[in-house]
Amino acid sequence: MTRILITGKNGQVGHELQRALAPLGEIIAVDRQQLDLAKPDSILTQLAKLQPDVIVNPAAYTAVDKAESESELACAVNAVAPGILAQWADVHGALLVHYSTDYVFNGAGNKPWREDDAADPQSAYGLSKWRGEQAIRAATQRHLILRTSWVFGAHGANFLKTMLRLAAERTELKVVADQIGAPTSAALIADTTARLIERYLADNQRFPFGTYHLAAAGEISWHGYAQYLIGKARQLGFPLTLSPEAVLGIPTEAYPLPAKRPANSRLDCGKLRHAFGLTLPDWRDGVKQTLAALKTAN
Ligand SMILES: NC(=O)c1ccc[n+]([C@@H]2O[C@H](COP(=O)([O-])OP(=O)(O)OC[C@H]3O[C@@H](n4cnc5c(N)ncnc54)[C@H](OP(=O)(O)O)[C@@H]3O)[C@@H](O)[C@H]2O)c1
Repeated sequence: MTRILITGKNGQVGHELQRALAPLGEIIAVDRQQLDLAKPDSILTQLAKLQPDVIVNPAAYTAVDKAESESELACAVNAVAPGILAQWADVHGALLVHYSTDYVFNGAGNKPWREDDAADPQSAYGLSKWRGEQAIRAATQRHLILRTSWVFGAHGANFLKTMLRLAAERTELKVVADQIGAPTSAALIADTTARLIERYLADNQRFPFGTYHLAAAGEISWHGYAQYLIGKARQLGFPLTLSPEAVLGIPTEAYPLPAKRPANSRLDCGKLRHAFGLTLPDWRDGVKQTLAALKTAN
């Protein structure tokens, strides 16, 4: 039976992967206590013990603003550790599935980024993720690097859940309107990962390893996203004090943060479509599904 190791099992994507990958083999999901990516010894000990056929690595240092003052730790987790996983995968003939981000780009222009566009990270987090990609590519060809954007889900902390909380407390809210991207649900990322691993397990000789963009279809600003999700949540009966019209758009300069955000987070997913025949659904679908799941849970 295929042994599939999932790191960071309590993260948004890690949580969904346990469900989505379960039909594909024996799932060994570990948390930070069991496998600490900041500690190379911990990584190597676990790999030697668990002997996975597929390593799926959604664990990451994801505190984007804190990374500006903790860049060494961010690099240990996001850059050094993926390189160690990749070396092990290469020596042992395993597949490494890793996740990266639109933050590897500088956010200029308004064209969706393609996989081979030049990276130019503008933040410590973005740089650490870019270095992780480079370390993987240098260590093994046996990898999938899946760049995604604006991740949300019912499990974990994210923009959607923050907006829902604030919409139950406030009557007016200001949200940045000049950064554009595609909110992508953790469930979609996990389900798509399952399709890719399934293909690898069926034929690993002709498998198109490499880097792919994996984001929901469509595009929106954070402001438009907030308005949409609050409108839908009200329709579903969430008791909210805020209406979509009372969410006001502001420019990035009006909400200063330690780490620079890309203004253009659009990811072109054409390569994934061509290589695997996968067309990803609109971002609104994931928002509706997640809101429905949250409503059922409460
Ligand atoms: N969130 C986004 O908007 C976004 C956008 C683009 C790309 N991505 C990428 O997508 C992937 C999944 O993101 P996500 O949103 O699911 O992240 P997340 O919810 O923040 O989860 C990250 C997980 O990594 C674990 N972790 C952190 N440091 C660790 C360490 N030293 N050793 C082991 N585990 C550690 C965390 O453990 P604890 O539970 O113990 O903290 C957590 O479970 C990441 O590669 C991220 O860079 C995310």
